[in-house]
Amino acid sequence: MTHRYASWLVLARLLFLAAAAGSKIPAVIVFGDSSVDAGNNNQISTVLKSNFAPYGRDFYGGRATGRFSNGRVPPDFISEAFGLSPFVPAYLDPMYNISHFAVGVCFASAGTGFDNATSDVLSVIPLWREVEYYKDYQKKLRDYLGENKANTIITEALYLISIGTNDFLENYYTIPGGRQSHYTIDQYQDFLIGLAGNFVKEIYSLGARKISLAGLPPMGCLPLERTTNYFGGHGDGCIESYNVVAKNFNGKLSGLVNKLNSDLSGIKLIFSNPYGIFMQIIRKPSLYGFEVASVACCATGMFEMGYMCDKYNPFTCNDASKYVFWDAFHPTEKTNRIISDHVVKRALRQFF
Ligand SMILES: *[C@@H]1O[C@H](CO)[C@@H](O)[C@H](O)[C@H]1NC(C)=O
Ligand SMILES: *[C@@H]1O[C@H](CO)[C@@H](O)[C@H](O)[C@H]1NC(C)=O
Repeated sequence: MTHRYASWLVLARLLFLAAAAGSKIPAVIVFGDSSVDAGNNNQISTVLKSNFAPYGRDFYGGRATGRFSNGRVPPDFISEAFGLSPFVPAYLDPMYNISHFAVGVCFASAGTGFDNATSDVLSVIPLWREVEYYKDYQKKLRDYLGENKANTIITEALYLISIGTNDFLENYYTIPGGRQSHYTIDQYQDFLIGLAGNFVKEIYSLGARKISLAGLPPMGCLPLERTTNYFGGHGDGCIESYNVVAKNFNGKLSGLVNKLNSDLSGIKLIFSNPYGIFMQIIRKPSLYGFEVASVACCATGMFEMGYMCDKYNPFTCNDASKYVFWDAFHPTEKTNRIISDHVVKRALRQFF
């Protein structure tokens, strides 16, 4: 090998390493609900948990981490796409410490919402307390890495926010005499948009700059809602009125994102909308290799999630990759992967 050729190889290798390490995102930081919770609910007193089989049966080591799926959830795929860890650990999970959280941490809690009244329903972590944990994390990060490095991570990290479905399905439409007696559905959406704006402003004031705010899924098509529709005598189709609310709300979120981008200097706030791709998967499952979209894999697939989806249920499907939904409320890992790829390519590509 000539000397010149050898140096060319060295240079090529250096360029390759530089490109691989060239992602501008040093960490992924997650706030939200069960769509992104990596196991925080395991450590609190609530009935809304999933740290038992068959949850997690397709995760690394077949481990039930507290993710509401058979495998990974979107922040895991997004972190991997940015060259970081293939999964983002839960802040309250005792298996992990600040050395892991420095490249990715999840504060999300299944069952929570923008509205404090939503987290009260199943005694889960309210969004304001997710922010308290985030402040605690910042302290630990500064102790661990020093002020300068910690500040770089805090400003350059990608923040993923995915929350809101429970405000409608677990709270507004479910709790009699609650929010429904004070707000029309349109007023309630505006109330939530106000809370969403305050939340973004708060994490911005704490240093966050690159933020993805996720829209709602077609929530009228979750298997549980279809079952409700069926027993309400309307057939087993999606609840169209819920999908209309999700679309309206997404429109309002998108407007909020535009406004905050012009109000908050230096912020890069992205609206990541899963609605369209998710709806297409539900309407044309075979295009994506699925066989079943109307019921879930776990148990009968009609209404079970959490403790009702357990390993003793004889009806659970063998191959979750044929199903769009894992339990009556949550997508399978395969659906999570398709939606994450879509969001990374469309909404998040400017962060590479
Ligand atoms: C974090 O945990 C790992 C083991 O997973 C251990 O080796 C390391 O020392 C811990 N680091 C800190 C800062 O506690
Ligand atoms: C939610 O609860 C927290 C803690 O009690 C409080 O600081 C916050 O103002 C509440 N938010 C709303 C909109 O009521």
